[in-house]
Amino acid sequence: MDRRSFLESLSAASIASIAAAATLSEKADALEQAMSESLSRTVVEPFACDIGGDNSYGPMPFLMGTDPRLPKMPDRPTLIDFYKLRFAPAEHVLQSARLALNNGLNEKVVMACLLHDISVYGLVRTDHGYWCAQMIKPYVDEEVSWAIEKHQALRFFADESVNYAYPEAYIRFFGAEYKPEPYIEQAYREARNHKWYMTSRLITLNDLYSFEKGVEVDIDDFTDIVGRNFRQPAEGLGFDGSPVAHMWRSMIWPNNFL
Ligand SMILES: [Fe+2]
Ligand SMILES: [Fe+2]
Repeated sequence: MDRRSFLESLSAASIASIAAAATLSEKADALEQAMSESLSRTVVEPFACDIGGDNSYGPMPFLMGTDPRLPKMPDRPTLIDFYKLRFAPAEHVLQSARLALNNGLNEKVVMACLLHDISVYGLVRTDHGYWCAQMIKPYVDEEVSWAIEKHQALRFFADESVNYAYPEAYIRFFGAEYKPEPYIEQAYREARNHKWYMTSRLITLNDLYSFEKGVEVDIDDFTDIVGRNFRQPAEGLGFDGSPVAHMWRSMIWPNNFL
């Protein structure tokens, strides 16, 4: 925010308190207080849900409910609604699921590929495998959520038996010296000997090569697979009283003040 718009955004009470401060030090304190109040009123651009909303609204006071910069969600949102109105274009997961389908993999793997990174689009990036797994757990087969959680760790470890190498992109992103945290290594070791290891490994195999430019994939192409593999709550995601309902509500209203 530039100086002029910052000054214009100050409330009359803030300006009065700065003016009334007797010493320079008191004025600095009053200004700092005004700045922190102004910042706390500013709606943060929702990284995850920015799908074409604009910033022309400027700072908004204490937003509750629908964010005017985002498409309004239906009252009983389905998973497909989230893909269209919050995750879109979601190319990466759509292409990953398409690749799994073209590779003749079973529906559990296709569904896992379709869901494997959705928290990155809609909720949170860090530890995304764990977040994704948790937000879908009540609605999918246990094998699907388990595989999604573990893909986060498996991506860092090669498996020559299926031609999975450590991603070259990670050397560029994180440097050749990067070593995953011990909890990731531990998760990998546990997953390596698990009966569902290959389901998770297949996510990483279809993940790695799924960035095809010019290939258009639509979530509607997966309507039947979603219908068979995702238990859509009748009340809508976010309103079914499940232990993860708040995560879906946070994507519907990402900027609620409280
Ligand atoms: Fe991922
Ligand atoms: Fe991915």
